[in-house]
Amino acid sequence: MSQPTFEAVNLTKRYEDGVLALDHVSFEVHPGQIYAMLGANGAGKTTTINIFLNFLEPTEGEARINGVCTHTDPLAAKAQIAYVSENVMLYPAFTAMQNLEYFTRLGGRDHHTKDEYHRVLERVGLQREAHDKRLRGFSKGMRQKCGLAIAILKDAPAIVLDEPTSGLDPQAGYEFTQLLTALRDEGKAILMSTHDIFRAREIASTVGILNRGRLVMQRSAAELGGADLEQLYLEHIAGHAA
Ligand SMILES: Nc1ncnc2c1ncn2[C@@H]1O[C@H](COP(=O)(O)OP(=O)(O)OP(=O)(O)O)[C@@H](O)[C@H]1O
Ligand SMILES: [Mg+2]
Repeated sequence: MSQPTFEAVNLTKRYEDGVLALDHVSFEVHPGQIYAMLGANGAGKTTTINIFLNFLEPTEGEARINGVCTHTDPLAAKAQIAYVSENVMLYPAFTAMQNLEYFTRLGGRDHHTKDEYHRVLERVGLQREAHDKRLRGFSKGMRQKCGLAIAILKDAPAIVLDEPTSGLDPQAGYEFTQLLTALRDEGKAILMSTHDIFRAREIASTVGILNRGRLVMQRSAAELGGADLEQLYLEHIAGHAA
């Protein structure tokens, strides 16, 4: 099998106040796969994502992107990961086009034409009349689309998203997950957290359930078969409670 794009190896995080947010979590996400992390509030999903982005250092173990450890070689790791977020990083005073231009230049890629920016914004479903409007007036779904457009332009092999469909209306959620599956089919590896069991079931190559910092269940789509993921989720959360 290919080298994993995302690899968590015994990932452990104890915050300064003593909270054990992650306890020896290991998993892999390969090119062309979507890994969906499920888990209750406080289970450790955002902590996992933040370690992959090197916003946090693990207490033990490591996160690797294409074999590069995020906390010992952060620049090389960051070059290979795109973070899609509707609130982090985008500039509200800039238009969609200006945000795209700014962030692709920041990433050292300034060879795109205006036409290419328009095309990628169209690909993510942002209507033409919004391209030159300031982000300040955008809905959450529209900001998510801009974030995804920036990630597409970065063309990183690894894409990470923290609850990408939360707060999106059903159609926007559907369209956004369609875009993610298209990127998966282009060979990207996608790591996402979600509370949406239905969508996880629909698009994930592998589903992992975190409970109090531990990976208590992990199954590929094939292993899940016809199983009721909601029931499995409830059993795994209840079974490991207290
Ligand atoms: N900066 C921090 N300092 C101390 N504890 C933290 C910090 N960030 C998170 N935690 C704790 O770590 C644990 C995991 O939190 P995390 O945000 O990773 O959960 P999550 O699975 O993303 O939850 P949610 O579904 O609510 O987003 C929780 O107990 C949380 O209170
Ligand atoms: Mg979270």
